[in-house]
Amino acid sequence: MRSLLLLVSLGFAAADNGLAGWLRYAPLPSGSHSHYTRPSSILALNSTTSSPVYVAGQELQSGFKNILGDNIEIQHGGCQPSAVVVGTVAQYKDVCGGVEGIPELAEDGFWLSTKGKGVQILGQNDRGALYGAFEYISMLAQGNSSQVAYATNPSAPVRWVNQWDNMDGSIERGYGGASIFFANGTIVKDLSRAAQYARLLASIGLNAVVVNNVNANATTLTSENIEGLGKIADVFRPYGVQLGISLNFASPQTLGGLPTFDPLNSSVIAWWQNVTDEIYQRIPDMAGYLVKADSEGEPGPATYNRTLADAANLFAKAVKNYGGIVMFRAFVYNQLDESDWKADRAKAAVQFFGPLDGKFDSNVVVQIKYGPIDFQVREPTSPLFANLLNTNTAMELEVTQEYLGQQSHLLYLPPLWKTVLDFDLRVDGKQSIVRDIISGKRFDRPLGGWAAVVNVGTNTTWLGSHLAMSNLYAYGRLAWNPTNNVESILQDWIRLTFGFDLSVINGITKMSMDSWPAYESYSGNLGIQTLTDILYTHFGPNPASQDNNGWGQWTRADHLSVGMDRTVSNGTGYSGQYPAEIAAMYENIDTTPDNLLLWFHHVNWTHHLHSGKTVIQHFYDAHYAGAETAQTFLQTWESLKGKIDEERYNDVLTKLTFQSGHSIVWRDAINDFYWNMTGIPDDANRVGNHPWRVEAESMTLNGYKTYNVSPFEAASKSVAIVTSSNSTTGTATTKLEYPSGTYDLAVNYYDLYGGKSHWKVYLGDRLIGKWVGNNEDVLSHTPSIYLDGHSATRITFRGVSVNKGDTLKIVGTPDGVEPAPLDYISLLPPGIVD
Ligand code: GCU
Repeated sequence: MRSLLLLVSLGFAAADNGLAGWLRYAPLPSGSHSHYTRPSSILALNSTTSSPVYVAGQELQSGFKNILGDNIEIQHGGCQPSAVVVGTVAQYKDVCGGVEGIPELAEDGFWLSTKGKGVQILGQNDRGALYGAFEYISMLAQGNSSQVAYATNPSAPVRWVNQWDNMDGSIERGYGGASIFFANGTIVKDLSRAAQYARLLASIGLNAVVVNNVNANATTLTSENIEGLGKIADVFRPYGVQLGISLNFASPQTLGGLPTFDPLNSSVIAWWQNVTDEIYQRIPDMAGYLVKADSEGEPGPATYNRTLADAANLFAKAVKNYGGIVMFRAFVYNQLDESDWKADRAKAAVQFFGPLDGKFDSNVVVQIKYGPIDFQVREPTSPLFANLLNTNTAMELEVTQEYLGQQSHLLYLPPLWKTVLDFDLRVDGKQSIVRDIISGKRFDRPLGGWAAVVNVGTNTTWLGSHLAMSNLYAYGRLAWNPTNNVESILQDWIRLTFGFDLSVINGITKMSMDSWPAYESYSGNLGIQTLTDILYTHFGPNPASQDNNGWGQWTRADHLSVGMDRTVSNGTGYSGQYPAEIAAMYENIDTTPDNLLLWFHHVNWTHHLHSGKTVIQHFYDAHYAGAETAQTFLQTWESLKGKIDEERYNDVLTKLTFQSGHSIVWRDAINDFYWNMTGIPDDANRVGNHPWRVEAESMTLNGYKTYNVSPFEAASKSVAIVTSSNSTTGTATTKLEYPSGTYDLAVNYYDLYGGKSHWKVYLGDRLIGKWVGNNEDVLSHTPSIYLDGHSATRITFRGVSVNKGDTLKIVGTPDGVEPAPLDYISLLPPGIVD
């Protein structure tokens, strides 16, 4: 049993820019580890500096020094019972003779024993030994001195991360700065961040990084770049992290100059083999390839009427002799016509890949996104997991929060991932839990596992937000053992990242665990998907963007009804892609859970849910409840002031402040949109009724003019104001007719990319506050150049004393293309959020 030492708060922690992530090795409070026995030495059973065992020795030394204040010497030979020994089981046998009581370990597994005089950390291989060392250091850093002796193995061999880094240094769907690998078409010279990244990944048991975007650039494979990739692999190797490469299917033609890229053409086959040989010559342990083909405009085998299996096997054969594997993405779909009631993008993966089951070579793994569409806030488990019984599979997750707030909203993702990992697909009427399918266990497959799109960048927070790192940490921990409890993983991360103060642990736990339900509530509920702008930044609300285009993320909402009918009896037939028991559950509206109702059924807005509410009232209520929860994140964080170093405190504060305002933008946009569409009023009379607001367009304007915002629901009453020119100041004034008292003054404005406007707000002659439109510098999301749901922002001035009849004046100074836009002000009495 694990025993946590009684730890007291350290008081103010030192400034921290986030770079060390959860590997801070922060000192334990003095006096808290008196009964820990100091080891005589660290015995690292490999003296080659590039070996993970050597690195493990270094990490242990640094851990003891920083966490416990002990300087312990590292040795590389001799058997000492009172040492911390780290090495492989085989190395240990050589040095110390037999090993007793250690069960057979799987690849990358390890044995950790703190019982007896010393500590034994023994890996099945070098990498396993390093994993064990990190696990032991994590115990030390959490003040955990329990006596343990156990063996642990990863759930699956493939535990990869994908980076969507482009050769020019940009990152597709990356919110943490530029690439740590590439710039200007080639590999960067300073690879220190790449090494630090590998260290973080190794500490959570992840074993490979595909470094370039799935929308791959063929020039990644020039000889010069292969040499550069080799350098990345060199800095990864000491951490047991292998390098993988995304391929552009047309490379033989675009880079190689061949007339074709037909996967069955002999010159094409030879071209790929040559490139592969060249890569393995430089990187003998290259993990393998990742391929996106025939998807979203990427080239693929369809050009030559070849199958996706023909394509995958071409690469599989090229890497086979080197022990490489091919991760072949199942994210393949075509544009569709919404007027066809039966058309359904969710069906595409099974349609394309189902018939190919059993046709993939043994070193191919089909990489499947958790749901059938695209990383939405809630999706049913992809049915493809139940349709590939003779094919290796892996699950693809997204740590980068593409559709989920882009690291500018707090969202702890593992509870969402768990809905899929723990789902029992009942293949052939037998237990078929998704985590057992991807591990290879359920269908007895030799390979399988995990991939997550992570997209760290040069920002010292890695992902663009300190709190978002819990997702990366938890990804590794779940890939190792998906039955781990997501709340205890989170708390390990909090202790390692922020220390032991109980209010910090409880506060961040509560915020994080509430974050996905809150985001789902204000972004898109009942399985309708994230109602973000799918045609632009994927960030703020724009429900209309889902329909009337070929992308197939449809809601089919009109004034009467909403939802995709995916039944076999009357709809697209998608539910029939599941095994019988699951298909029957989703086919029937009565047995479909409310949270996926609109995914599977097309219903009237007045349809009653199992909860008893109508669909439309559920929308209204959920959006209010979700936005209200988001306000509590800010309050909780503010209650932790002084218990977290200022740098991280302030950085997170900025994001949570934004989120608290943006959740209201989401709430009002979605509610107004559907109220406008259905004409059905909110039972509680909140939607469209904002007694504490004064619209900017109703103020007296001087140098400002009105502006019709698009989409309309991204502005209160659909209208905002902008300065009449881009160079002259505007003022908006209004007389406040509220009872005298103390209020929070909220101002909703738009912060566009391409300018940093200034605003000042006065009550009479008194300056109440001022601010700058610099979201693009302090937040992490893709910015917008329009007044819309992405740029809509709220700032709040607290505790403003107002006398009835006071004149409120806002002065806006435009900058660049940003015309100091304003939407409305809200004068909020205590306890009111609007
Ligand atoms: C999403 C994402 C794209 C990405 C694609 C993929 O559609 O928006 O940027 O390329 O997924 O997973 O391939």
